This record gives sequence, structure tokens and C-alpha cells, in this order.
Amino acid sequence: MQVNGTNRAALAQIVFCRGCCCGREDRGFPAVPVERLKAVWKAERLNSTVQLTISGCLGPCDRANVALILTPSGLEWYGDLSEPADFDAAIEWVRECRAANQLLPRPATWESRRFVRFPDESNGSACAVRLDEDWFPEPITAVTS
Ligand code: FES
Repeated sequence: MQVNGTNRAALAQIVFCRGCCCGREDRGFPAVPVERLKAVWKAERLNSTVQLTISGCLGPCDRANVALILTPSGLEWYGDLSEPADFDAAIEWVRECRAANQLLPRPATWESRRFVRFPDESNGSACAVRLDEDWFPEPITAVTS
């Protein structure tokens, strides 16, 4: 089967969650600097390197603030992004990827924040995800360009 590509190619996509928990300072969660992220991506035209997406709830709220990186190799989930420096590290990583014109290792400070999103029966490293019967994640709603 032939699979078609897209004209909006990038090396990767990064999704920062701002949903029912992530970024909800009014609920006691750390901020997600959405406007700053959008401004940097727009000013520096970073979307052609790593597409920025701000999403609604991605599911694993217990790890708020959550980010998801999509690459040709798969999905990488990161959580507990609580400091401005965590987001600065992401910005710097994308800048470096653009300069190198390739995907570079993720920010070193993010390494310990990576988590398993879906059950992996082979090693028992599943990350428990609570799904209430009447609750479904919001769709991805905002894409900057
Ligand atoms: S609000 Fe971010 S994972 Fe649920």
C-alpha cells in the first residue's frame, strides 16, 4: 500500500498539553507558557523544524505538565514539566535541531521526565492512566503557524 506524504514536513512535532490539568494554575498546576512558546516559534519560524501544537488534555494528567514529541521513530511522552527552564530547554533543543538540520537528542533535563504512556507487558513499566467512564480527552485544538 502506498502511503502519501505531506507538504508540511518537519523533523518532528512537539505537543504541549494545556488541558484540564496541565497549565491550570487555578487548579494548582504549574504554568505552561503558551503565548511565549507561540511567539518564539513564530518569530523564529521553528515550525519547519519542529511543529508546535498546543493541545487539550492528552490523557496522563497524573504527569502534568505533559508534552508529547512525535518523530519518525515514534512517540515520546514527557511529564512533570514544571519550571520555565523546562520550556526554555525545549526551545533551545528546537533551535539546535534547526541549526543541525536534524533531530538531536532531546534536552538532557527532560530525560528523567520521560514516561511510558501505554502498558508494556514485556517489562511491566506501564504508567497507570485513569479514564473515567464519562470522560474523554479533548481533541487537539490549536496549531500555531
Ligand atoms: S490535562 Fe494534560 S494530560 Fe490531561
